[in-house]
Amino acid sequence: MKQEKIRLLFVCLGNICRSPSAEAVMKKLVKDKGLEDRFVIDSAGTIGHHAGQRADARMRTHAERRGIVLDSISRPVTMDDFYDFDLIIGMDNQNIDALKRKAPEWESVRKIHKMTDFSRKKTYDHVPDPYYGGASGFELVLDLLEDACQGLLDYCLNPDPDQDPEIGEGF
Ligand code: 4NP
Repeated sequence: MKQEKIRLLFVCLGNICRSPSAEAVMKKLVKDKGLEDRFVIDSAGTIGHHAGQRADARMRTHAERRGIVLDSISRPVTMDDFYDFDLIIGMDNQNIDALKRKAPEWESVRKIHKMTDFSRKKTYDHVPDPYYGGASGFELVLDLLEDACQGLLDYCLNPDPDQDPEIGEGF
């Protein structure tokens, strides 16, 4: 029997730093495990300010040093996203609030989660915006995403809502 794909949308403010990095980190994890057929992975921004642009050059440089290639083009979240994806994963509370305001109905709200809810190390409760900061901010984003995306992959392959009440009821 053909398995349904798991559809993941990562969301930040501009879709040029954190969410394209989350998309690329998750795609690499999935590819390394030979699980590409089981996932659809995309990213978007809560604002359309940078629509059509490649990811921030600083973010791309830091990611490439870890073997992570950011090739997405910025786009804003659309209404269809709330129907097309199983999990919609924001990077901070501002993203979560914006997503909840955009969500068309209750079923969509239940799809919204915060990236750090999947963290294994639990050092941060959000992925801080690196846009106006220096190199350490971009490195922190990648450290947090590499950890949380591994937690997210584990969750997707073996959803156990009892394990972490922060993470809804699966999908
Ligand atoms: P992101 O970072 O939300 O991680 O893509 C930002 C990108 C752009 C802006 C802010 C944050 N901006 O103000 O244009």
